[in-house]
Amino acid sequence: MLVVRSEGPGDTQALGGVLADLLRPGDLVLLVGDVGAGKTTLVRAVAAALGVTGPVTSPTFTLANRYDARVPLLHIDAYRLGSPDDEELGLLLDDADRHVTFIEWPQALGDHASAPRIAVAIEHQGGDRRLITLSSPAADVDLEQLGDDLRARHVDAQPGPGAGAG
Ligand SMILES: Nc1ncnc2c1ncn2[C@@H]1O[C@H](COP(=O)(O)OP(=O)(O)OP(=O)(O)O)[C@@H](O)[C@H]1O
Ligand SMILES: [Mg+2]
Repeated sequence: MLVVRSEGPGDTQALGGVLADLLRPGDLVLLVGDVGAGKTTLVRAVAAALGVTGPVTSPTFTLANRYDARVPLLHIDAYRLGSPDDEELGLLLDDADRHVTFIEWPQALGDHASAPRIAVAIEHQGGDRRLITLSSPAADVDLEQLGDDLRARHVDAQPGPGAGAG
């Protein structure tokens, strides 16, 4: 577990930049956090780091957006999704092994969103401050290295409880 203290959008963007280095096709990243927490801001920064040059917009109304990049991205926002076995979602996720897939509001999806490579939770801390917690069940996701990379960029990142277990 890694706990990142983001003092503003720039810190969250820095996290996206270093997170991009960890992501491979087939990876699923879940993003939990209230409205305006910064989930899309983080995805946008990952997309930029992976070479997406056009605008990255919130898929709140479109359900999903795709972006071609070094690693193609699938960005899903399940906020408005009716039910977990929504047909469109099933079709989207059939294709997920070619992409890095980000899902905002995964709580609605049940089993569809049960095995992320990385889970991200963003909490408001007042003003522009956010507490961002990353965890991963995957042994090869090096959150310690991620923390080192962030501190090198002057972003506060500390191992959380249960650090050794990812
Ligand atoms: N530390 C921070 N990290 C990220 N965003 C921040 C931070 N401080 C302020 N912001 C601002 O908060 C807003 C976050 O919006 P964003 O669309 O990324 O949120 P979201 O979590 O995707 O919301 P939604 O659930 O509505 O999709 C942006 O306007 C961003 O500039
Ligand atoms: Mg969003």
